[in-house]
Amino acid sequence: MNGYRGLFAWVFLALSAAGAVPARAEDGGRLVVYSGRSKSLVAPVFALFEKQTGTRVDIKYGKTPELALMIREEGARSPADVFWSQDAGALGAVQNEGLFADLPADILESVPAAFRHSGGKWAAVTGRARVLTYSPARAKPESLPKSVFDLTEARFKGRVGWAPANASFQAFVTAMRKMHGEEKTRQWLVAMKANGARAFPSNAPIIQAIAAGEIDYGLPNHYYLLGFKKAEDVEFPVEQTFFAAGDVGNLVNVAGVGILAAGKNRDAAERFVRFLLSPLAQQYFASDTLEYPVIDGVIAGTGLVSRDELVRLAPPVTLDDLDDLEATLALLRSVGLL
Ligand SMILES: [Fe+2]
Repeated sequence: MNGYRGLFAWVFLALSAAGAVPARAEDGGRLVVYSGRSKSLVAPVFALFEKQTGTRVDIKYGKTPELALMIREEGARSPADVFWSQDAGALGAVQNEGLFADLPADILESVPAAFRHSGGKWAAVTGRARVLTYSPARAKPESLPKSVFDLTEARFKGRVGWAPANASFQAFVTAMRKMHGEEKTRQWLVAMKANGARAFPSNAPIIQAIAAGEIDYGLPNHYYLLGFKKAEDVEFPVEQTFFAAGDVGNLVNVAGVGILAAGKNRDAAERFVRFLLSPLAQQYFASDTLEYPVIDGVIAGTGLVSRDELVRLAPPVTLDDLDDLEATLALLRSVGLL
């Protein structure tokens, strides 16, 4: 995986050296970014932005929920100009405090409405889809479930893996609560447990367990299997698919950005957000982090559907509504999953 990442980071930097991006500006000022995205994933993006614009970026890396909390506590005194979140819910939590500035119209218009704040306060940078992974040897294509709710049927007993402690799984449960209500969500969680759903600590072990023959289906994010196929073997014995269009099991969460209203470097902040949504940066994400690009015209990597198809498959859940993590954690605890 690292070798693969490194290769694309190299290609990305080589493109810039070859003049695919404008030469370095004289002095682009400074910028403070709180990044809930890990350094190993996004350091090349920051490096290229600095090189291209001459902007000096101070980056505070951390876990997304903790950075969101920090920004809320710092309020108008926060040194942050930009918050780059791993998840829509944390953007919503900051937005609820009224801390984001309006994003310029050209930035908003480059991203589909489904992947930005309805009031124009944050925009997605990449899409992260929930999928159904399965063993093609033990699951017939024609018998794959059309809905995540089907997984409580007896034919799936003891065959499904999930990761209740994982942040993306929890965002999916929040989406289910918003779309189907508390009671139906509780019933689904209880029925899955009764049907022998196996809990894993995170997404990657779910996929390894399918490959090892321990389970036949799993509920991870889309990029884990793509990572295994790229890094290890295109014949890796696991496949993935979406549920029927609009099913909550297809939740498309985002990593996204908002500009802090109290930030001192508004121009640089807007320049940075435009850079993240530029074809070059979007191509890097599609090729290297294997996430979904959110602008038009980027060549999606193997195993990704087109942006328009992704929008069609996504459930009708407003990403602004995923800010209610506490109630999801309480629900998961009450049914014994945390
Ligand atoms: Fe992840």
